[in-house]
Amino acid sequence: MDPKGRMSRLTSLLRRRGIVLPSFEIYGGVSGLVDYGPVGARIKRRVVNSWIDHWGSVPNIVEIDSPTITPEDVLVASGHVGEFNDKMSECKSCGGAFRSDHLLDEFHDNPDTLDSSELDELISKNGVVCPSCGSHEWAAASAMNLMFQTSIGAMGGSRSAFMRPETAQGMFMLYPALYRHFRQRLPFGAMQTGKGYRNEISPRQGMIRLREFNMAELEYFIDPENPPVTDLSRWPRKVCMIPDPEGPHPNEVEVTIEEAFESGIVKHPTVAWFLAMTMQFLEDVGIDPSKVRFRQHASSEMAHYASDCWDCEIIGEHGWIEVVGIANRTCHDLESHEKHSKSGLLRAWRSFENPIKESREVLKPVGSVIGPSFRDRAGEVSLALSELTDLPESTPFSLTLSDGTSVQIEEGMVTRSLQETVVSGEYFTPHVIEPAFGIDRIIWHILDHNYLEMEKEGDEYTILSLEPTLAPYDLVVLPLFDKDGMDVMAREILDEIGSISGVIAEIDTSRSIGRRYARADEIGIPWAVTVDHQSLDDGTLTIRRRDDQSQIRIDVGTLIQCLTSKTLHTLF
Ligand code: ATP
Ligand code: GLY
Repeated sequence: MDPKGRMSRLTSLLRRRGIVLPSFEIYGGVSGLVDYGPVGARIKRRVVNSWIDHWGSVPNIVEIDSPTITPEDVLVASGHVGEFNDKMSECKSCGGAFRSDHLLDEFHDNPDTLDSSELDELISKNGVVCPSCGSHEWAAASAMNLMFQTSIGAMGGSRSAFMRPETAQGMFMLYPALYRHFRQRLPFGAMQTGKGYRNEISPRQGMIRLREFNMAELEYFIDPENPPVTDLSRWPRKVCMIPDPEGPHPNEVEVTIEEAFESGIVKHPTVAWFLAMTMQFLEDVGIDPSKVRFRQHASSEMAHYASDCWDCEIIGEHGWIEVVGIANRTCHDLESHEKHSKSGLLRAWRSFENPIKESREVLKPVGSVIGPSFRDRAGEVSLALSELTDLPESTPFSLTLSDGTSVQIEEGMVTRSLQETVVSGEYFTPHVIEPAFGIDRIIWHILDHNYLEMEKEGDEYTILSLEPTLAPYDLVVLPLFDKDGMDVMAREILDEIGSISGVIAEIDTSRSIGRRYARADEIGIPWAVTVDHQSLDDGTLTIRRRDDQSQIRIDVGTLIQCLTSKTLHTLF
């Protein structure tokens, strides 16, 4: 088949078979919004479940679930209100708006790193034409915030809010509950899957750039002075890594994650662990590992909250696409929420191995002078003196009390002395390492990498070679004819399969058996069970394997037993 038309054939299969379709199509559709149909929603559910199971197997990682509507104050503190922008260029002729960096994809290696004036200069120098009308006339690039704004409550008492642009803030909001849940011990992680919303300037590329999309994010809270270190030798596969070209390792390399960490390409041990775990997940869900690479952000490309970021990119019909961002968010979010919310410490306690004995200078109130001088406020003055951390060098000085008022401390009211204290630990703000997965982009690449086109007996034939755990159905039951008792037996078997936990089957009775095999292969059902005349006589069935179309005959009891123990594949 003509490789040029592969993407449109895949897209049309996705539509035709109810996998992914444009949303609101009967009203003309809305770009950047898609539906998962009956087959696609099942695949999506299974991909999300695999993601949850993958990270949930780490004992100190838990799942949470938070609202998608987020009050403005939260996103002011996180920096999204001020900085979650993309640069937009508007065509002066037709008014079309486009992401400025996307207009320059052909002319610059990484246009995401350019500021507004650099973008304008390159757009003009390269004579970039408007994709809608072909004009060369552009207004200066301007920043557009990507969040969808809304309000909570009725007009007068309403509170400004946004649809969340990332699920991550939910984990930061729950930090105190998580810290309690993990009995005040780092490291720990919290993950959630759910919708994220971004009013993308010019969505294109189908499922790649959506305005409402499925995210899966994990915030891993660590002590920056004692970051968790994992044995990376468990992941011997070499991967392509493209470090920041302006950093100390400017060249693309093929290395194991362990080598990347040992050679300093990846600096942080926990970031290295997340790179390895991410690669493992992608392989487990059927992404071709030779089509994956990790690319480090240049400092000018980094999100406002990150100090280091590696994008996991996959190549497919759309070229290289970021599907996961693994960022070191440091203490940015917790520190900022602590400051803005004023609701107490978002910190953790670090005990010192050896408690430190400290002797510090203190000012002791002279009761016989303080008492008569301040009368009923003498207690407050003594307390404020005991809490002073920066001692004034001499008297007199002004002392601020807890209610914000000040009093004057004169000579003779205090004496200086040394006090011995034992400090057993300290509070600090945890750092956060975050892998942020785009589920829709991952699903697209699973479909892309597993969409196999071939010729069979002179006809075009397609197989979606999905991992069996991600298939929309575990098996399809096919009565050779929908009559003569084969229909009844097929439905009895379907009922029996339906009672096996975690196994989903469907029945297909329409048209020839060859057509039905083809329909099942096309949406990735790994097994087809055929009930024929012989089945009625001896209770045996034909089991057909999707990937090589080989067939065996077994009896119904064996089928049920193998489905229950998930061992059907061992019979082939
Ligand atoms: P891009 O540079 O492609 O806009 P991003 O750097 O803004 O992506 P992140 O903010 O790191 O993306 O978001 C985390 C993940 O969410 C991405 O790796 C991607 O898989 C997914 N994602 C981001 N924006 C979209 C979108 N508009 N549609 C679908 N998935 C998205
Ligand atoms: N939480 C990471 C991101 O949205 O980019």
